[in-house]
Amino acid sequence: MRKPIIAGNWKMYKTMQEATSFMEELTGKLDRSVQADVVICPPAPYLAVLVEKSEGTPVQIGAQTMHEEDEGAFTGEVSPRMLQSIGVGLVILGHSERRQYYNETDESVNRKVKAAFAHELTPIVCVGETLEQREAEQTAEIVGSQVKKAFDGISEEDAKRAVVAYEPVWAIGTGRTATASDANEVCAHIRSVLKDLYLDETAQAVRIQYGGSVKPANIGELLAESDIDGALVGGASLDPDSFAALAEAGSHE
Ligand code: PGA
Repeated sequence: MRKPIIAGNWKMYKTMQEATSFMEELTGKLDRSVQADVVICPPAPYLAVLVEKSEGTPVQIGAQTMHEEDEGAFTGEVSPRMLQSIGVGLVILGHSERRQYYNETDESVNRKVKAAFAHELTPIVCVGETLEQREAEQTAEIVGSQVKKAFDGISEEDAKRAVVAYEPVWAIGTGRTATASDANEVCAHIRSVLKDLYLDETAQAVRIQYGGSVKPANIGELLAESDIDGALVGGASLDPDSFAALAEAGSHE
């Protein structure tokens, strides 16, 4: 049984005050016996403070991106070593906004996945097709190739700990969600690609999230699908009530 993982991607939203009061509200609302992994990925300046605030709570803290090198002359960047040193446990890699606006490629995502494992960070590897690619019926091919490239050179043991987020680009922030069965079909395809690369046991252990306009009203049907093990949530993760509802939904799967 894979443990559901519900992660909130705050993107570039919230002040420090809003971030800390969100954490207090969320942890107040969350049932301590929550069965899912519950993760908040705030903007980088709040990571250390939120890691401290999350201690003794069921919430884990993740970064939204990182550089692949340990250190160096890379103005403005944050390294995996820095994240590890402040107690961050996870990192979103290759989000479509990073691919679109910051030139991240399958190759740089792969280097970052390797760097994450080298620093004991769990990568949440984002993949997904554009509307144009979906309409051209290239979804399986595009997503399959993104997965293969992201996992290139990743050991069996590390791969088991990875999380993959299937996020169709056309469903992000648009209010358009893939139907649960369409989303599941792609998530099952991702697992079959992992099966080509690794032992069945490893492919079965990898958790695959769906992302793209997930909210309390649609998370139930998504999580009920066989190959969807959680959600990566943008807009609906910004409000403590709605994010708590999503985390609770993950607990009842
Ligand atoms: P959304 O964003 O939930 O606002 O669609 C999802 C994401 O970008 O991870």
